[in-house]
This record gives sequence, structure tokens and C-alpha cells, in this order.
Amino acid sequence: MSENRPLALVTGSSRGIGKFICEKLIVDGYDVVGCSRNASELVNAHYQHIAADVSDQSSVLNLFKQIRKEHGSLSVIINNAGIASMNHCLLTTVDAFDRVLNVNLKGTFLVSREGAKLMRRHNFGRIVNLSTVAVPMSLEGESAYVASKSGVEALTKVLARELAEYGITVNALGPSPIETDLIKGVGADKIAKIVNRLALKRLGRVEDVYNVIEFFIRPASDYITGQVIYLGGI
Ligand SMILES: NC(=O)c1ccc[n+]([C@@H]2O[C@H](COP(=O)([O-])OP(=O)(O)OC[C@H]3O[C@@H](n4cnc5c(N)ncnc54)[C@H](OP(=O)(O)O)[C@@H]3O)[C@@H](O)[C@H]2O)c1
Repeated sequence: MSENRPLALVTGSSRGIGKFICEKLIVDGYDVVGCSRNASELVNAHYQHIAADVSDQSSVLNLFKQIRKEHGSLSVIINNAGIASMNHCLLTTVDAFDRVLNVNLKGTFLVSREGAKLMRRHNFGRIVNLSTVAVPMSLEGESAYVASKSGVEALTKVLARELAEYGITVNALGPSPIETDLIKGVGADKIAKIVNRLALKRLGRVEDVYNVIEFFIRPASDYITGQVIYLGGI
């Protein structure tokens, strides 16, 4: 970690999209704090892993206590931690519904709230939230997941307004299906159906995600807030 590099926080950094985002941010000149419940395999002089559960307020408060103490400032948050529950609504238990809402929506709220307190000290911040193309598709079989990510999009727009006066932009990005653990349990036929509803008929790639993130977090993107960009053409 170096004092000259801006600090980025990536939630859900132990694998999948989050791990890739961390690696790209490091190449682009950031120091990165990543968090997830399990450890990360990422070993890099510019990466620090802090175990945290974003759905648990005390865990998020501890995470930020450590960031404040060890780094003192924060420029970028990527709210990437997320879980899915793919099931027909008639088969969705209230426990599954709560879990998905807690991680995806409450987690994004808690991390954004605590992060914004730190960002406003320097009158600069970039928050990017992960949504999904399942929202505009109103994808059947994913009621809890789509409800949670719709909440994330609404939160993005309200926070964009509330945090604008502190130089903090808040935007969201909705990927199309990308091969990670998250969609391992989804049948190939269902993925193919989703891809067929896109203008660009291929799976998304982690590089496509970072391309949008890189755009949102640039200092020059200071006039872009409250927006949602979807991958693949929906
Ligand atoms: N893959 C796709 O097709 C796709 C499409 C659209 C949107 N997205 C979104 O992209 C994001 C990343 O998805 P992914 O595909 O990379 O998923 P993934 O491979 O399953 O990884 C999810 C990450 O989130 C972490 N996580 C889960 N619950 C957490 C919690 N309570 N607190 C902290 N970290 C937690 C996991 O680590 P631990 O288990 O160690 O906590 C892991 O690092 C999600 O928000 C997802 O909704 C993905």
C-alpha cells in the first residue's frame, strides 16, 4: 500500500467479478481493500483483504473502522458483493428472500452510507453498484434477486441526489450473464434464453464490467450520476 495511490474498496472480492475488479484497479493505480466473508487468494502489495459480511451492520462498521485507521481516506467503492436465489416465487422461502435482500440491498446501503462519511471529508467519491439485466427483463424465477437489485437501482438514484453536494457520484451497472459461481446452478437453456433477449448475443465478460466501472470512476466523469448502464443491449 502506498500513500500516493487513491484507495478503492471492492466488496465481494474473494472470487468472480469482484476479484477481477480488484486486479484491474491495482493495474490502474489504486490501492485496494477487498472484503468478503472468506479469505481472498489475491496477493499483491497494493491489496489488503478484510473479512466482512456486508449484510451485518457491526461487521461493516468494523471494516470502516479499520479503513479509517489504516488509510484515512477513500475514493472509490464498488458494491459488488451479491448472492442470488433462483426459484419460482411459490417455492421461495422467506429465509431465502431475507438473505438475498440483506446482502444485495442492505449491504449496498450500509457500505455506501459508511463510505460516504469518509469520502465527503475530501469532497470526492465514486460509488458504483452492481445490478443486473434481470431487472429490466423482469426475469421470471428470480423474484428475490430482481427485487433486491431493483432496490439497488432505486438506492443508486436517491444517493446520487443526496451525495452530490459532497462531490460523490453514485452509478450502477447491470451485467448480462457472466460465467462465475453465481450462475453455476442456472441451466444452459435458461442462460441461452436470456442471451437471446439481448441485442448482442453472447455472455458478458468481466472485462465488459470493468470497462463501465473504469468510465464511472474517472475524475472526468464528475457530471455523471444516478445512471444505470446495462451490458449486452437490453
Ligand atoms: N455473474 C453474473 O452472471 C452476474 C450477472 C449480473 C450481475 N451480477 C452481480 O455481480 C456481482 C458479483 O457476482 P459474481 O458473479 O462475481 O458472484 P460470485 O462469483 O458468487 O461472487 C460473489 C462474491 O460476493 C461475496 N459475498 C457474498 N455474500 C457476501 C456477504 N454477505 N458479505 C461480503 N461478501 C459477500 C462472495 O464472497 P464470500 O462468499 O467469501 O463472502 C464473493 O466474493 C453480484 O452483485 C451479482 O449480483 C453477476
